[in-house]
Amino acid sequence: MERRAARLSEARVERRSRLSSPVEIRVLTTPQELFEMAAEEVVRAAKEAVAQRGRFTIALSGGSTPQSLFNLLATNARTVLPWDRTFFFWGDERHVPPTHSDSNYRMAEEAMLSKIPVAAGNVFRIPAENPDAAAAAEAYEQTLRKFFQLEPGQVPVFDLILLGMGPDGHTASLFPGTAGLHEKSRLVIANWVDKLKASRLTLTLPVLNAARCVAFLVSGTDKAAVLRTVLEEDAPAEQYPSKLVRPVNGKLIWLLDRAAASELKGKG
Ligand code: 6PG
Repeated sequence: MERRAARLSEARVERRSRLSSPVEIRVLTTPQELFEMAAEEVVRAAKEAVAQRGRFTIALSGGSTPQSLFNLLATNARTVLPWDRTFFFWGDERHVPPTHSDSNYRMAEEAMLSKIPVAAGNVFRIPAENPDAAAAAEAYEQTLRKFFQLEPGQVPVFDLILLGMGPDGHTASLFPGTAGLHEKSRLVIANWVDKLKASRLTLTLPVLNAARCVAFLVSGTDKAAVLRTVLEEDAPAEQYPSKLVRPVNGKLIWLLDRAAASELKGKG
């Protein structure tokens, strides 16, 4: 982790005034360096949270991109993270049981949770095995309300929310043109995604935008065009939901590899 300065000099950090909240864009040369930088960000956020509040709450992203990060956290960062003070949640989940190959929980369990000294009581997965997706969402909302001791109308403030972005600009399970983009009060919803012919369970925008820090991890050329649209073009946010993630009082970091950043002005 000491080579950060060297890696960063290869990366560019830019604050863009266009978006409502300042955003940091860090471009790393390789996917491996992207995941190392992401691991450093998790360790930094964890240490800060535990120092200031006695605990670290993190919502994990799904899909394939974070798997290498989870592996790194379970190996390189295994000894430096305060696992006993760390509480795991998920930003979204596919409507499948935790044993299913599509399960975001299963991916995190295999890549990290099964390899670190974390108590089962510190892991709050989305109960997506419930055939009633709306009931599963409601149950997870109650889990959040209880853990964060929320009053009615209050929103949980995560220390760190990890997000990915799909080639269509979706994030968590907030897909273009879906009803979930308009949710203003619920914390967790079952969002019907017509193109998948399935419901997805997902944290809502009020929760994502209440976080102290949101970090997007985006890797690969297949994300380059949509990334340019999300970060640099005036396209309708309804069609590129990642544009709607703008923490109100928090930090927004885009961690990119050079392939993903290849179409950004002055990047790649
Ligand atoms: C999911 C995710 C989703 C993911 C993007 C990117 O459940 O699929 O949470 O939002 O982050 O689809 O996925 P990849 O990392 O696989 O490209």
